[in-house]
Amino acid sequence: MVNCVNKATMTYQSISINHNDEVNHNPSSVPRKFRWIVLFATGSLAYITFDWLRLRLFSGEDSPPSKVVSASTRIKGGPVVTDDSASRLFHTATDSVPIPTGVNLGSWLSLEDWFYVGSNGAVEVASPDDSLAASCLPPLHLDESTGPRWNSETDLLEGLANHYNKQMDEENTNRSESLGPYGKAIRTIHAFRSNYLDFDSDLSAMATLGIKYVRVPVSWCWMDFDPSDMITEVKLKDDESDDEKIGLIYMSDEEVKEKYTCQDPFYSDVRWPAIPHSFVKEFLRACAKHGIKATLDIHTYPGGTSIGTFSGVWPRYSRFWTHGDAPATDKGEKDVGREILKSFISWLETLSTEDPLAFEGLRALSPMNEPAHLAGLYNGPKPVRTDRETFLPPLPEEVSKKYLADLNDGVLPTLTQVPDGNHLRVFMWLRDAVNEFRQSKLPSLGVELHVNVHESLFPASILPKYKDKDRHNFDYGLYPGALAVFGAWWRATTSSEERASWAVLDIHHYHAWGPACSGAVEGPPIGRYACSDEEERNKVLGKCVQWASVYRETLERECESGIRLASAEFSASTHHSVRHACNDVSTLRTTYDMQVRAARQADVELFWWSFKMPYAGAFRSAWSLKHLLYVLGVLPIPDEGNFHCGDHTPPHGEPADASI
Ligand SMILES: *[C@@H]1O[C@H](CO)[C@@H](O)[C@H](O)[C@H]1NC(C)=O
Repeated sequence: MVNCVNKATMTYQSISINHNDEVNHNPSSVPRKFRWIVLFATGSLAYITFDWLRLRLFSGEDSPPSKVVSASTRIKGGPVVTDDSASRLFHTATDSVPIPTGVNLGSWLSLEDWFYVGSNGAVEVASPDDSLAASCLPPLHLDESTGPRWNSETDLLEGLANHYNKQMDEENTNRSESLGPYGKAIRTIHAFRSNYLDFDSDLSAMATLGIKYVRVPVSWCWMDFDPSDMITEVKLKDDESDDEKIGLIYMSDEEVKEKYTCQDPFYSDVRWPAIPHSFVKEFLRACAKHGIKATLDIHTYPGGTSIGTFSGVWPRYSRFWTHGDAPATDKGEKDVGREILKSFISWLETLSTEDPLAFEGLRALSPMNEPAHLAGLYNGPKPVRTDRETFLPPLPEEVSKKYLADLNDGVLPTLTQVPDGNHLRVFMWLRDAVNEFRQSKLPSLGVELHVNVHESLFPASILPKYKDKDRHNFDYGLYPGALAVFGAWWRATTSSEERASWAVLDIHHYHAWGPACSGAVEGPPIGRYACSDEEERNKVLGKCVQWASVYRETLERECESGIRLASAEFSASTHHSVRHACNDVSTLRTTYDMQVRAARQADVELFWWSFKMPYAGAFRSAWSLKHLLYVLGVLPIPDEGNFHCGDHTPPHGEPADASI
């Protein structure tokens, strides 16, 4: 049985390094100050106008002042000890570093390119359209001699298969004495997956830090087969000598594709590498053993639900909403996305009886990551992007009319109404996801549903207009318009009992995108503050971290107090371009510390993005928790892999598969 993770236990741990720091406690019932937001006219989401397609996040503009006390006064700025002679977990720093209760295990079972750029790699989080940033997938793929550069999970699979095919041609490989190109590609991907995380040492290190929850982005494509079955050992009898010898039978590529990959229903030339159920069960059992509970976050769907390398099909455009969403086609076709979610929920139900220990390691299901992220650019009266058709078309008129009426039925005039627009397609999909979960056994078994939404779904023009007396107070990414619309939808989609138990709303928030909260080595206008300008930096960050309390105040105003809220992605990065981003310890410490403390005070559960990324080069200090904690003197060793990504020079005669 999984115990329902009670809101009251949803706390943030602190690591107290000198064991007498007052911060080492569990503030499980931090009082919140509920403030009514003064609402007037105007104010709009400030969409980022620079570098915009590659952006993962929009920042809001303008917000009410909030009473969160700036955490900056609590930072003592003690010396960072970087000596790693000690084998103990923690250094004897004089400072205390708060630890969020949750972390992501990103780019493991759903790949993103920028985690694999190596030390000479790219500079942007989520690469722009035309660049190929990722150069490796260790341990078997290290550089251009071992495989392709890649954008996303599916073009990696295809690229690896092409690479092996070419290699086998060049080496005149007898194909009945070898795995085929796809078999080899699956082997490389599975070798990566099973080497990425040590279920024992990594999970116990996380537990020691006080991490209680992991969010695991996974793809939609799963299988019941074990990749080790692609090669079968058989005993052969030598006819002449009568000796027995071992022979190997290699699975054909047709069978490999059938069993270990999924054909994308919307792109005939796209295949996805499947995740073995057995492998994830093993992971969940390990979580249970270490007292950690996992959220399985379905990060990708066929066709891609948004644009960007994290969609899984990038550089291909998103087709999920135009091709796979039944209300879009309205021709009685199979609803692929809803079917996938349904069967995933049944699998989790089965797990509760088939593998109770694995089920104990399961905390929650997140039905879709950042649905239709960036669709707001293509929609609305004055779309920002007009270069191609939107990937999020409107619902058929009758459907949207009826749905909108349902959503806004009987809403008090003091509350926000859901506006009309293409976002209703996403809202309806998520409504059906909530329904599917509600009707399953999972709520009664203590499993939660973490519903992620992203404000880049909306064009700025359709959001409610707010005006503060002192307009600039809405600055610093604190404009509540999108949050209010999410609140209005959430109120209509879940009951207050559900919101107090298994239904958790999740909105990601980063400072790295948008002019309101970013910091840059050279200062304005690239960043709002210069990393070295401590006073301005602390002022900006002090305002920006109030987002957590604006989030809570806005959602509670639309729903009720005590609602469960999460922000399942955040980082210490101050700029999406790693060369502009602040990498000094003082800024990293400040932006991390202030965000964690402000969220704790607002009772918003945080998940850091992401726990480890040993091949992410310069990204690591602001995005890898493991590396940041090393930089801050908490962990004794940096987040480093055993290989160099992208700069392996094979010695003359090295075998192609690196074995002898
Ligand atoms: C390829 O391998 C198979 C199985 O070992 C063998 O029967 C066949 O003769 C080989 N073909 C060539 C061209 O060497």
